[in-house]
This record gives sequence, C-alpha cells and structure tokens, in this order.
Amino acid sequence: MLNKEIKETLNKIVGDLYQGVKIPDFVVEWPQDKGFGDYASNVAMVLAGKLNRDPMEIAEKIKDKISEVCEDGEDENLFSEITIAKPGFINFRISDKQFRQNLCKILKKKNEFGSSEIGKDKTVVIDYSAPNIAKPMHIGHLRSTIIGQSLYNIYKFLGYKVIGDNHLGDWGTQFGKLIYAYKNWGDKKIINKNPIEEMTKLYIRFHKETEKNKELEEFARKETKKLQDKDGENIKIWKFLVRESLKDFKKIYKTLNIKFDYVLGESFYDEMLAKIVKEGLDRKIASKSEGAIIISLDEYNLPPFLIKKTDGAYLYTTTDLAAIKYRKEKFKPRKILYVVANEQALHLQQLFYSADLFGLSKNIEMKHIKFGMVLGKTGKKFSTRKGETIRLDDLINKSIKLSQKIVEEKNPKLTKKEKKEIAKVVGISAIKYNDLSQNRMTDIVFNWDKMLSFEGNSAPYLQYTYARIKSLRRKYDELYRLDRLNVFDKPDFSLLKEGAEKNIMRQLIKFPEVIESSAQENSPHLIALYIYELASLYNNFYNSVPILKSEKNIAKARIYLSKSVAVVIKNGLDLLGIDVLERM
Ligand code: ARG
Repeated sequence: MLNKEIKETLNKIVGDLYQGVKIPDFVVEWPQDKGFGDYASNVAMVLAGKLNRDPMEIAEKIKDKISEVCEDGEDENLFSEITIAKPGFINFRISDKQFRQNLCKILKKKNEFGSSEIGKDKTVVIDYSAPNIAKPMHIGHLRSTIIGQSLYNIYKFLGYKVIGDNHLGDWGTQFGKLIYAYKNWGDKKIINKNPIEEMTKLYIRFHKETEKNKELEEFARKETKKLQDKDGENIKIWKFLVRESLKDFKKIYKTLNIKFDYVLGESFYDEMLAKIVKEGLDRKIASKSEGAIIISLDEYNLPPFLIKKTDGAYLYTTTDLAAIKYRKEKFKPRKILYVVANEQALHLQQLFYSADLFGLSKNIEMKHIKFGMVLGKTGKKFSTRKGETIRLDDLINKSIKLSQKIVEEKNPKLTKKEKKEIAKVVGISAIKYNDLSQNRMTDIVFNWDKMLSFEGNSAPYLQYTYARIKSLRRKYDELYRLDRLNVFDKPDFSLLKEGAEKNIMRQLIKFPEVIESSAQENSPHLIALYIYELASLYNNFYNSVPILKSEKNIAKARIYLSKSVAVVIKNGLDLLGIDVLERM
C-alpha cells in the first residue's frame, strides 16, 4: 500500500534527520487538489510545531534526504517528483512505472486484488440482523443486515477471522403474551396456514385487549414464567413460533445472500443468566435496588443497568452481558461489532461499561456500529399508507418489479429469462447500494427513481459500467480473433499517456487503502464512493478516448486498462454484497 510505504519512508528519514526526537503523529493522504500530487504529508508541519522551527525549512530538508535515498531516474523509483507547498506540505507524485506495475498486479491477482493479511490471527465477532421471532422482519432490520454483511466481507478480505452471529430476539416477555393469545384466541387452522402473519395479529390484539383488561398482563407474565421453567406445552408453542419465523427469515437471507456462522438467539443464553447476576452481586458489581437488581453506572454518568426485574425476570440487558462472556470465552475476539440502530445507543453504552466492570472487555474492542433511520421519499418515517412499518419481502419484490420495467425499456432485445434474471439482481442491488453508499449515520431515503437510475451514484450505474467493459472486451476479441500476435503479446501500458487514462490509473492504485480505511471506520460507504469515482473516471475515458478504433497496440493497452477497472469494480461490489452482470 502506497500510503503506508510513504509513511514508512518518512518515518525513517525523519528519524535519521532528527535523532532522539519522538516523531509526532502525521498523515499521508490524497490531496484535494490533484495538481499538487498523488499523496501529501503534513509531517514537516507537525514536526515544526514540536521543534518550534520553520516548517518550510524542515520540508526542504526531508525532501533533499528522500532524493538522496532514492536514486534518480523516475522509472526505477516510487516517486517521479517531490514538491513543497506552503505552509509546509510535502507532495509526492508517483512514478508512471508504479502505476503500470499496479495494472499488472490487478490483472494477476484478479479477485484477490485489494485483499491483505493485516487481520491474520485476529478474530472479529459481528452481531448483525437480529430480527425478532413471531414478527415479520421489517425495514428496521434491513440496515443491520446489509451493513453487517458488508463489514463481514470487508474484514474477511483483510485476513481477519470473522464470526457472524445472528442474535435473534427469540426470548423474553413478548412470548408470554403470544402464548396467552395463541392459547385463548388462536385458531390453529388459520394460524398454521400463515403463522407469522396471524401471530402478529394476535399480538396486536393482546395489546388492544390489555387496555380494557389489565389482568391480561398478569396472565401473560405467568405464561412467560412457565416458558422459562420449561413447561412442556409452552416450549412447544415457542418452538413452533421460532421455527416458522426462521423459515421466513431464511427466505429473505437467501434472496439477499446473507450468511451467518452462528445463530445464537437470546434463548441460548438463558442458562447463563442466573449465574451472571449472582456473580455480579458476589463481586459487588451489581446491587439490589427496590427489589430489582441493577448495575450502578453513576461513575460514568449513565443511568443504572437493570439486569433483574422485581418479578424475578431477566432482561435483554442480562442476555447481552451473558453473550459477551460467551463470545469472549468461545471466540477470543479482538473486536465485537454490534450493528444496531442508533436508538439503542444508551443500551449498548451501558452494556459496554457493565462488561468493563465485570472485567470482560480486557483486550476486546467493543463497538456500536450505529446507523440512522429509513425514511420515505417525503422525509417522513418510511411506512405503508396505513402507517404500518413496511415488510422487507414486499420491499424487495417492489424493487425487482420496478427494475423489470426499466430493463424492459433499456434492453428490449434480451430474452425473457435474461430480463428476469437481470431485474432480480438489479432490484436487490439497488436496495443494498442505497444503504451502503451513504454514511451509515445518516438517515437513508427510499427514492426509487434515484435508486434505479442508470446514471448517478446508483447500483445500476456501476453494474452498467461493468457490463459495458465486458461488452467492449467481447467486441475486441471478435476483432482480433485471428491476430495471433496480438493474442500472445503483453499489453504495453507505457502507451497509456492520455490524462483520462492517468486518472484511472491513479484511482486504481488506491483501492487497497480504501478497503483498509473502510474497516478502520467500519464504513462500507467509503468503498461505494470509491467505486463510483472509478466508474465515473472510466466513463469519462470511454466517452473521450477511442478504444477499438485506435492503433492496435494502443487498443490492446486500453482494453487491459478497462479490464483492470472491471476487476476492481467487481471486487469492490463484492465487498458490498452486490453482484455484477456480464450484460444488461
Ligand atoms: N433483536 C434486537 C432488536 O430487534 C436487536 C439485537 C441487537 N443485538 C444485540 N446483541 N443486542 O431490537
């Protein structure tokens, strides 16, 4: 990775020049204005601050020293030019040779280009999706699912051992209510036909009826208790609900291509709860408070963490604490990432501090990967006309249907089967990309026109760019099929001299760095943004430079440049969980 190489070089040189001085943190980054170079560093400025000297003077010194270290002749070196800019930036221009070598590297490594080993021997647990049993999976869980899977892919690509865990909401007081409603109002025949839909209705009915009759709450509590005590009938109903819900969830996971290594729902931790609460009391981490048991978080300025209710029931909180203990022992992770909506920020803060008190977080970085809400086009909460939350399967089907119409318009010549397949990929990708192309902290908006547009920052635009390169390649092969010389000669990348070509090469070399920063910030949108920029640069080249019509050796170099772009678009989209299409 170039940014790292440059940083290492600078560290070494500064170390030589200013022996005994502790080198302050500095950056090597891409300057806003490309006119300055490919990379820029503020090392001279931070050093000047520390030594109380003129940054320009220090920059000059560093520059001279680098030129000493690296011999002249741009083709042999990393840099072709180093310049100084006020108030003390050092700017680096990367040599053409580096860019050319990078093209070879892309073509050689193909789907592994951009991967690395930095995560070797480190484990990351990612907690994502986590829908609740006996409720349809809705749009609120969509973001967690999509972002979580993408982070999974990214960490894996960087060599980490990744554990994807679906912390299903399959335990808790809602089951008492569901079981009560099932026993008293449920018609087994109707329920069996459409279990989750019917159970959702019963759940809503339960809440309506409790408004009139408070006693129901008490009945439900008893059912919950019976379930927790492993009463045969209640366990049976609960198992039925879990099984039916999972069937529905799995359909959605299959469509979206989501995978987990473990599905350890809340119920899995039930056995551990009493013990962890007792341990908390014994070690004076937890205390009794008005009949309940809490972990006081006063010292962190947070409200207490309730881990056992007055009625003896354990909670979501207790389970999450037990889950940390389990994950720590079983997986020995470096990191645990919770891909959970913003709204649960307090819960997770309390959880992490409580885990600290238990001594569970030593050497583990626990992070809440927050994300914003999903809004409709009008900027209001995304819901059906009746104000209900939108179901995920409906949403996916709608996207596929809309795509089908667009594919029909764009490419009527395709066969029916092709159109259908393309529409499915485009429809699903549009939903994923709409999410992943935006900073996860912002609320996302469902604007179908924008999501399915073939122009602008959308999935179809990127897929179209990819398919365009594939089609170009087919035409090229056709054209030179009989030209044996052309088949066996290596492309000569030194023929790529146009500005539009250089811009692409400059972008391509950054891909590995982008992946690393997206993991550092747990932000897949950095990759999305990068691919979008790459596609735009490519289309700019495609529209302004002749490819097939140019002289045959130049054509060849341009085709292989295009191929490198296709490789990188595909690798980037793979990390986002988005498929490419050979034609569209
Ligand atoms: N099931 C929860 C919900 O729907 C999300 C669980 C998130 N993960 C966790 N370990 N708390 O709100």
